[in-house]
This record gives sequence, C-alpha cells and structure tokens, in this order.
Amino acid sequence: MVLRHPLCKMSMAFCCLAPRHLATEHKAWHTFVMSQSPLTRSMTLRRSVLSVPAINVRALEKTHLLDCDAVIFDLEDSVAPEKKAEARENLAAFFRGKPLIGKERIIRINGLSSNWGRADMELVAALEPDAVLLPKVDEPQHVMSVSDLLADADAPDSLRIWAMIETPRGILNAAAIAEAGRTAGSRLDGFVVGLNDLRKETGVLPQPGRTYLVPWLMQVILAVRAYGLDAIDSVFNDFKDVDGFDAECAQARAMGFDGKMLIHPAQIDVANRHFGPDAAAIAEAQAVIAAFADPATDGLNIINIDGRMIERLHLVQAESLVHKARLIAARPIAASPIVGSQTAI
Ligand code: COA
Ligand code: MG
Repeated sequence: MVLRHPLCKMSMAFCCLAPRHLATEHKAWHTFVMSQSPLTRSMTLRRSVLSVPAINVRALEKTHLLDCDAVIFDLEDSVAPEKKAEARENLAAFFRGKPLIGKERIIRINGLSSNWGRADMELVAALEPDAVLLPKVDEPQHVMSVSDLLADADAPDSLRIWAMIETPRGILNAAAIAEAGRTAGSRLDGFVVGLNDLRKETGVLPQPGRTYLVPWLMQVILAVRAYGLDAIDSVFNDFKDVDGFDAECAQARAMGFDGKMLIHPAQIDVANRHFGPDAAAIAEAQAVIAAFADPATDGLNIINIDGRMIERLHLVQAESLVHKARLIAARPIAASPIVGSQTAI
C-alpha cells in the first residue's frame, strides 16, 4: 500500500518532500508516517557535503561558487585552539553577508564538554543554520542535550541536528543514537561517519577497499535506515588521488550512503555523479511509475516489466528517485570548476 497524505494526496515519498516550514498538519502526518514506516526519511539532496574550516575566510567565500549540496562550517578539528574565537567571528560575518543559495548550511561545533562547546552553541542559536553537527557522539544523551539547548534558545524546528559517528562507542551505540532521533523534540536528521577518528581510536589501518571498516559502516547504515535518517560517508583525505576517491564514492553508494563528506572542491563533481541517479536509473524509475499508473495494473501488487518482477515497493523507490532527479535539475547552477592541483577557481 502506498501511504498518502490525506489532504494533498501525495504518496508518502513525495509528502516527505514538504519543507519543514510547511503546514503543521504536514508535520503531524510526517510524524504519523514515521511511526508507520521506518523507511521514511528526508529527501534533501546530500550528495556532496563540503567541510570548510571557519578560520579560512577565503575558503568560506568560495562556497558561494561551488556546486556542493551542503557546506559544513567547521569550528572543531580544522581550527587550532587559539583560533576558535576568530573562527566564530568569521562565521558570524559570513552569515551576515550574502546568503548561501541552494545549499544546506551546517555548523560543526566543538564537543559540549570542551572549552569551546558552549560558545559554539550560542553562535549556532544566533545564526540559525540548517543544522548543527555534533562531534564524537557516543550515546543518545549527547543528541538530547543539544536538542534541549536548542529548545531553551527557542531555536526554530528547522534547525536540525547531525551527529558524527566516529568513536568505538558511537558505532556500538549507533542504533540507540538513531532511535533518539525519534524522541519527541529531537531534531536528529542524520549521521556523518568520521573514519579519521575511528581509525585512530581502533588502530585499523587506512587501506583501499576499507575491508575492516565495512562491517562498522554497514552498522551505521542499518541504524539510520531503521529510524529514517540520512547517512553521509567519511572524508577521503588524499584529495589529489582522483581514482581512489572515485572508487570510494562508488563503494559508499553501493553500501547505501546518501552522500560523502568532502574536504576539497575538486571532490564535488565526483560525489555528485556517484550519489545522484544516472540517466539509466531515472529511465527505469519512470518506466515503473508509468507501469503502475496504467489502469491495467490497478489492484496488482506485482507486475512484469521486461521479464523482471516489479513490486509496489519499487514504486515508492522509483518516485523518490525521480523526485531526487528533479531536485538536482532544479538546483541553481553554481560554477564548480576543478581546483587545486588542476586549475584555480
Ligand atoms: N572549501 C572551500 N575552498 C577550498 C577548500 C574547502 N574545503 N579547500 C581548498 N579550497 C580552495 C583553496 O582556498 C584554494 O583556493 P585559492 O587557490 O583561491 O587560494 C583552492 O581551493 C585550491 O586549494 P589547494 O591549493 O588545492 O589546497 P589548499 O592547500 O589550499 O587546502 C586543505 C588543502 C586540505 C588544507 C583544504 O582543502 C582544507 O582545509 N579542507 C577542509 C579540511 C577540513 O574541513 N577538515 C575538517 C574535516 S575532516
Ligand atoms: Mg573527528
């Protein structure tokens, strides 16, 4: 059965596209649907999520020109302790300036127990980005504490929480942390995997194919899919290794990740290509939608398309894939030239 919004008659996959600021009955419906189907999740494009050190004003300004889906403004590991205040000032100035069009804005804060966490949270409450990214989330309480802080600051519901899963306890507790996203008042939207920290904590060596990390990565995927969240794969450090990055994006897409956290503009186009549907997948999805729209398939849950069994559950997938393709086509065009070792922006 395809769940439909009682007012707009959209199928569940499309109903989930409604921006968060839309009517409250939409939200109530979403809550209902979330409780009915763990598969429901955001349909925001998150193919390419570029991290930018907030201390680097030049890089901050470049984000306007880049074709990534989201920007993480980093106050944490890429900013030296003595530069934290300056980085916060840079970010405040950036948010006061020209608005960043067509990209989610996420601020990565320092841990709440660190010397800088509280000041970072005050900045987040003042700037109202699309999300705050919490480092080293080990347990559900980390998410709930930040949800409470945002509620106390009267932050709008549109200000969401993302969690970095990058510690052994974070991996072990991934399902419980994801479940916290279902708690009333929680704003959890997704996980970002941090393999640099995880490798450091566990001693797993960086190797092509990520053989010994794959079980943990798949545990993260299971956790987000069980609770309707998004999953963003870890950064790939060697931004000049084009083939290695290409292979890792392909692997992450095959594992089910929604996108990849990036460190360099040269990685954007490759990530967008791997995590966006290709022409063949779009054509196939359109064929599934057309087949189920044919009155001849009324009352059928299973049909035959070119010798393959297609179920109604494939219709939901097809609708969301086609919608994603439309979102990509509708994005404002940003000049996103290859930079760095190849050519300058
Ligand atoms: N966002 C925006 N612009 C970036 C960028 C980023 N993450 N990384 C590089 N650029 C820009 C540079 O400013 C440079 O522009 P310019 O030539 O006009 O000065 C251009 O792209 C080419 O950069 P390049 O010379 O190839 O690299 P670099 O030495 O300037 O920077 C890094 C390399 C790794 C230091 C840089 O990419 C970076 O800081 N990445 C993000 C790191 C991060 O956020 N880490 C925390 C999460 S793991
Ligand atoms: Mg980290």
